Amino acid sequence: KTLEQSKEMDQMNLDQLKLTVAHCTACPLSLTRTHTVFGTGDKNATWLFVGEGPGAREDETGEPFVGQAGKLLDQMLSAIKLSREHQVFITNIVKCRPPNNRNPTAYEAKQCEPFLTRQIALIKPKLIIALGKVAAQNLLKCDSSISSLRGKAHDYSGTPLIVTYHPAYLLRFLPDKAKAWKDLCLAQSIMKSLT
Ligand code: URA
Repeated sequence: KTLEQSKEMDQMNLDQLKLTVAHCTACPLSLTRTHTVFGTGDKNATWLFVGEGPGAREDETGEPFVGQAGKLLDQMLSAIKLSREHQVFITNIVKCRPPNNRNPTAYEAKQCEPFLTRQIALIKPKLIIALGKVAAQNLLKCDSSISSLRGKAHDYSGTPLIVTYHPAYLLRFLPDKAKAWKDLCLAQSIMKSLT
């Protein structure tokens, strides 16, 4: 992004930003996507969930977490008495589907980063939940493992951030579900301490 483009983005509201994402051609993922997936939820959400990137169903619909992993995410939300519509916003590190659901490259994540940065600046969540390794490593600018990042509050530009397993991983490895539920309890207690 040129300096001018990022200055422009600093002035945008969420609707304008969504439109900008929809027209983005900053990386090669724009060539293979069907729809951009901006994210959905409450514009004044206190909880921000960040996944990795759209999968096949998300690319088809333009909505985040609508496939199998999304169903599990809904269960995770309801375990802490939340729902998609209220107090929650859900988005991803990259807004376009990586082919065959591969991880986004560092370049793709970097090109997409100003959108997430602006989303966070506008939504001003009280707590950010990074879902999985790609989200955690990109948000925290590190290459640590999930297991070393779980279980504590990190700092994202002044906002507490916690890391948990990606729901798609949990579907493949059910034993770690208990740990994810523990992470959600931690998230809940951090949120309580803030309000
Ligand atoms: N996995 C993700 O990381 N994000 C989605 O939106 C869907 C599946």
